[in-house]
Amino acid sequence: MIEIKNIRKTFGDRTVIEDVSAVMQPGQCNLIIGTSGSGKTVLMKCMVGLFYPDGGNVIYNGKDFTNMKNDEKTEVRKEIGMLFQGSALFDSLTVEQNVMFPLNMFTKNSYRDNLKRVNEVLDKVNLSDTNKKYPAEISGGMKKRVGIARAIVLNPKYLFCDEPNSGLDPQTSMVIDRLIRDITQEYQITTVVNTHDMNSVMENGDYIIYMYDGRKEWEGNKKEIIFSKSQRLNDFIFASEFLKDAKDMRMLEETGKISNERNMARLTDEGAPTLVPPPDEE
Ligand SMILES: Nc1ncnc2c1ncn2[C@@H]1O[C@H](COP(=O)(O)OP(=O)(O)OP(=O)(O)O)[C@@H](O)[C@H]1O
Ligand SMILES: [Mg+2]
Repeated sequence: MIEIKNIRKTFGDRTVIEDVSAVMQPGQCNLIIGTSGSGKTVLMKCMVGLFYPDGGNVIYNGKDFTNMKNDEKTEVRKEIGMLFQGSALFDSLTVEQNVMFPLNMFTKNSYRDNLKRVNEVLDKVNLSDTNKKYPAEISGGMKKRVGIARAIVLNPKYLFCDEPNSGLDPQTSMVIDRLIRDITQEYQITTVVNTHDMNSVMENGDYIIYMYDGRKEWEGNKKEIIFSKSQRLNDFIFASEFLKDAKDMRMLEETGKISNERNMARLTDEGAPTLVPPPDEE
């Protein structure tokens, strides 16, 4: 579990994160959503220790990471995997070398053991035959998968993914989302994902915080987001007319109104074909 309490981050005299608190559970995809510049990446960097927050605490499994000594922080960092915005692979290293990098850095395992582990995670992300390829030789979706393989190679308890879908087509995005979801559930990882992808929200939003101008404007899950009364959130997530209609449909489905309305239509529109069988008592 990760808890963040009253996180604040400033750059110079500009506050970019203001008093953000949240609780993120294991086995769940915890999403941070919001428009470009709303503070998603800065918040994530505060959480993993790449930025030091000016106020508040980040707590990993009950331990206050923010105020830990450096050697204690290193221990927690070993349990954190991160997929950076844009994958951040080393261009001069092969796929195999990229994925092996954290193992070489944090373990004293033999090359043979490391290679076995690398092959396991490459298999997990469906990239078994790409060991010797360089990042320039593989597609954007494959790069993301290599990034995920590298992020999970040390069996992390916590997985952070910054915009895992950016630059991918909708189908490949879904493959990545499902992969993140499966890994999260299988290994009971506390996963945190920054996204502005509507599909990811609806597929993977076990817990969602919506950031607006550095503040947490809303929190909830993928079902609750349908009923959100926050105008800003609705304008952001259901931006197009098509998505507004989809939201209305989902709302109707969720509240069971569709079947009621069909029944009403059947009762009031005599002779019209009925989609819903008549109730027993009729
Ligand atoms: N190192 C930095 N120094 C100064 N300001 C920064 C720094 N990093 C980010 N910011 C500012 O903090 C704000 C939030 O940036 P952040 O990168 O967190 O946005 P984001 O929500 O991740 O956006 P995007 O969806 O485009 O990735 C922005 O106004 C940005 O200019
Ligand atoms: Mg960002």
